[in-house]
Amino acid sequence: MSSRRKKIYEGKAKILFEGPEPGTLIQYFKDDTTAFNATKKAVLEGKGVLNNRISEYIMTRLNSIGVQNHFIRRLNLREQLIKEVEIIPLEVVCRNIAAGSMAERLGIPEGQALPRSIIEFYFKDDKLNDPLVTEEHITAFNWASTQDIDDMLAMTLRVNDFLTGLFSGVGITLVDFKVEFGRVWENDFSKVLLADEISPDSCRLWDSTNNNEKLDKDRFRRDLGGVIEGYTEVARRLGIMKEMPTVIQGGIPSGVH
Ligand code: TMP
Ligand code: ASP
Repeated sequence: MSSRRKKIYEGKAKILFEGPEPGTLIQYFKDDTTAFNATKKAVLEGKGVLNNRISEYIMTRLNSIGVQNHFIRRLNLREQLIKEVEIIPLEVVCRNIAAGSMAERLGIPEGQALPRSIIEFYFKDDKLNDPLVTEEHITAFNWASTQDIDDMLAMTLRVNDFLTGLFSGVGITLVDFKVEFGRVWENDFSKVLLADEISPDSCRLWDSTNNNEKLDKDRFRRDLGGVIEGYTEVARRLGIMKEMPTVIQGGIPSGVH
């Protein structure tokens, strides 16, 4: 489908192609699924379609409350038109409940509510396994300015507040999530935009109506099975399944390209 376009970048779960006009890119969602820095890999049919649609929905809602982001519009099942940004090489993680690497690193039982939301920065470098870094590292090595950091913190907290409410309204607990940011330049000034994707690949989502069952990528990381079923349930709760292709609505995504 996209073979004639110039590929700008290929990541583990997405490909970026040149966009139709300057300052735009096309973000293509793959079915490829990885964990633990791609030491674990699979192709889960239909995942890209689900994440494209879920991320579109969330980015559109965030835009409507003033959280500026790179999303312009969805083009088809697997692709969306986005603004080209200069990605800030950080993964910004926000946590409400202890889980995953924080539970392990600090010896906190998974599922324990945190006294307040905690934001962490990881340096985006697969060769180094995305190490946890502090604001001191970020400014000393010029990955972002103090103003960029302030903007990222403020936007991440707004995303957290909004998503916590959105998901709790449909019986889902937002445990934690990861976001990425990029800069766009206007004259000599840069502005920070939310970028990348927000989907069950990048969030921990627990079903509060069903024993905190996991509806996110931990199903893959922890070999729980039913990964696509979990993502489909998230889309269903958000009310966006009715617009999904029938192969996915039927619960067995296959042959969706
Ligand atoms: P962690 O507990 O493994 O550090 O993950 C925290 C959150 O960030 C969780 O919602 C999953 C998400 N995440 C990513 O989106 N990409 C990553 O590379 C990692 C490690 C985590
Ligand atoms: N880091 C991502 C995850 O586990 C994917 C990967 O590491 O390959 O969510």
